[in-house]
Amino acid sequence: MADLHSPYQNSQAFQLYTSNTDGKAKIAGYVASLAHHRFGQQGVLLDLGAGDGLLTKELAPTFSKIIAVERDPVFKDALGSIANVQPVIARMEELELPRSSYDVALLSYSFTGVLEGERERFLTRLWRAKSPNGFVLAVTFQDGCRWDRFADEIYSALGKTRSGGTRYHMRELQRCGWRAEVIRSIPTQIWAPNIEGLIDVLEYFFAKTDGEREIYRELAQSILPSYVDAGPEGSTGVDVVEDVLLIQPEHES
Ligand SMILES: C[S@@+](CC[C@H](N)C(=O)[O-])C[C@H]1O[C@@H](n2cnc3c(N)ncnc32)[C@H](O)[C@@H]1O
Repeated sequence: MADLHSPYQNSQAFQLYTSNTDGKAKIAGYVASLAHHRFGQQGVLLDLGAGDGLLTKELAPTFSKIIAVERDPVFKDALGSIANVQPVIARMEELELPRSSYDVALLSYSFTGVLEGERERFLTRLWRAKSPNGFVLAVTFQDGCRWDRFADEIYSALGKTRSGGTRYHMRELQRCGWRAEVIRSIPTQIWAPNIEGLIDVLEYFFAKTDGEREIYRELAQSILPSYVDAGPEGSTGVDVVEDVLLIQPEHES
């Protein structure tokens, strides 16, 4: 696999994406309002699959403490540099979670990273560890939004199976004895100065190897123009609808 991109290249590509979207700020605004309503500034956030910490950083002022769990060590320093944040480099399935260790758990675009065979056990342990008034949220894209349709075309060309989206989450959670309710749908956008720039920004999602990169770039050149709208300050953007899901066991044990 000589052409597999390094974790560092992937983290650079992820950061290019996160700095060209209003999604993280908007999601943080909504999650912060929910948490503030229930816990004031005193809540503890368990940020599961925290990535580069952009979302974590936006949330930091609302919580007294954030435990940011991330399996990729490349993000450790970025997470550790945020005030109030305790980075934990681990797979979330492996966490030891004492009772009442958090008030809000957030799985923003990370539930799909939990190994399928371990989801049920992980969710059971996660639920037992929340504070009495705590809650668990997941964030994913809305099926059928522009972003989803564009991504579907690219994934088919790459011959790759896609996971994610609200329907996927509902189905997978149900399989584990859980249910999900969409509590907010947030219109967001990913943008760049022009189509060429947008192709670069979106590369993170599709191209982990040089072969995939070639297929992605060629197809994106021809189809991306039909998915874009005007972005901020004369830029070009693709619209995304992001769903915030409240997730809980079907039956309390
Ligand atoms: C798409 S990023 C989302 C980052 C951030 N939550 C956000 O919304 O911007 C998903 C992150 O979750 C991490 N991740 C996926 N599965 C994980 C797991 N099982 N345990 C810990 N981290 C995981 C990945 O390494 C990646 O950094």
